[in-house]
Amino acid sequence: MALPRFLAFLLGAALPLLHLYCTEAGGEVGVSYGMVANDLPPVASVVQLLKHNGITMVRIYDANSTVLTSLANSGIRVTVMMPNDDLAAAARDPSFALQWVRTNVQAYRPATQITGVDVGNEVFTVAPKLAPDLVPAMTNVQAALAQLGLADAVKVSTPVAIDALKASYPPSKGRFKDEIAQPVMKPMLDFLRRTGSSFSLDVYPFFAYDEQPYNISLDYALGNSNDGETDPKTSLTYYSLLNAQIDATNFAMEALGVSDVTITVIETGWASRGERRAGPGRGRRRLLANTCAASIANARAYNNNVINRVLAVKTCTPHRPRVGMDVYIFALFNENNKGYGPDDREAYFGLFYPNMTKVYSFDFVHGTGGPPPQPRASWCVAKAAVGDTKLQESLDWACGHGADCSAIQRGGACFDPDNMVAHASYAFNSYYQNKRRAGGTCDFSGAATVVYKAPNIGNCVLPSKV
Ligand SMILES: *[C@@H]1O[C@H](CO)[C@@H](O)[C@H](O)[C@H]1NC(C)=O
Ligand SMILES: *[C@@H]1O[C@H](CO)[C@@H](O)[C@H](O)[C@H]1NC(C)=O
Ligand SMILES: *[C@@H]1O[C@H](CO)[C@@H](O)[C@H](O)[C@H]1NC(C)=O
Repeated sequence: MALPRFLAFLLGAALPLLHLYCTEAGGEVGVSYGMVANDLPPVASVVQLLKHNGITMVRIYDANSTVLTSLANSGIRVTVMMPNDDLAAAARDPSFALQWVRTNVQAYRPATQITGVDVGNEVFTVAPKLAPDLVPAMTNVQAALAQLGLADAVKVSTPVAIDALKASYPPSKGRFKDEIAQPVMKPMLDFLRRTGSSFSLDVYPFFAYDEQPYNISLDYALGNSNDGETDPKTSLTYYSLLNAQIDATNFAMEALGVSDVTITVIETGWASRGERRAGPGRGRRRLLANTCAASIANARAYNNNVINRVLAVKTCTPHRPRVGMDVYIFALFNENNKGYGPDDREAYFGLFYPNMTKVYSFDFVHGTGGPPPQPRASWCVAKAAVGDTKLQESLDWACGHGADCSAIQRGGACFDPDNMVAHASYAFNSYYQNKRRAGGTCDFSGAATVVYKAPNIGNCVLPSKV
């Protein structure tokens, strides 16, 4: 269907406004206060740091008494966690759950505003054997809260990592893994609905991008994107991978017949340093190191996009345009005891260094956190290793599908150097730039790769629009 030219122009011009698919959907932004480190400041100083930065919600990974006592009368709301080690007992024994709630929740309230209990952490990912205990434990903890008159003030949930989904792309195909869908997720969602709680999701576009950098554009992963990805089934356009992953979770819940449980993003964030150096094969190792997903500029961009969006009262997603959500950024500090050997990315998710200076600018009260960094220029080039036959096929395809190949014709500005890799690179890059570097547009069945330094191809200059 060809749109009249003026209409196409108008639609094109309106695109930035279409980002605002939600007029007003509120939420709050908090932080995850992880403490897997040996150099963190005293808890009392941390509470001052939170207050000083206008941070009003914090999530911890236990029910540490020093932390809970220090948060008393601070006005900061806190979600505590029952560790996975206690799940079996809490599932089996209501009196264990009651005692746990008395000691770790009731004892600190109301001076400390404990408003949530996470029962376990990423059970499907880190302790799948405990999956059958999960909903019984949540139920017993909630019953204990009810018995103590705290059921309205304190909500029970459990953080679920995005890998609980067996499919998430496009978002409308979002489904939970078969082994947990009916046995655990369905009763859990019924529990969350019945108790007015929300589904707690751990979601990291960082890892998705870091592990598949050639399928996803960096700007889309960071939430900077002007290049939307449209879900063919729903025709909804996504401008950030975060929203796509959240909606995939919404669709997974709907596939189980639940459409009215809201999501809390209980963890999201981006590493400012570190590399994933472990990986099968030397080529893969080099490839991953080259992508530089973890950087201060990227972490600043991602986390400021998240913070600004909450402050702009726009936490909805394309599929849930009127539903807001709370978001917790992981993490408050860099944690020097995290990370595994040469894979040290996990140690650098902090908003602050342990000396309490910011790793980069951000602002939980006014937003912005300084000007967003300029997107990096990138180019798409041919991989010589796939061989001339495959390159020729892909080159022909690119030239027939929107690449401008006039410059590589005889007499054109980029005919020299006259070889397959140079010509294919020109065509691939032209296609990639014309598609505004959207995810998946520099692939050509594995014949192409994105680079972030201007490629050196004789006198031929490959354009890059930013
Ligand atoms: C609570 O946190 C403080 C500060 O990190 C730590 O020194 C203490 O050992 C923790 N207490 C428990 C019971 O884990
Ligand atoms: C990523 O790209 C590879 C290579 O083209 C492809 O085989 C794979 O299916 C892609 N993955 C996703 C999630 O799009
Ligand atoms: C805090 O620590 C960071 C990282 O080690 C360092 O770069 C920075 O200079 C420190 N700031 C102060 C005020 O010590």
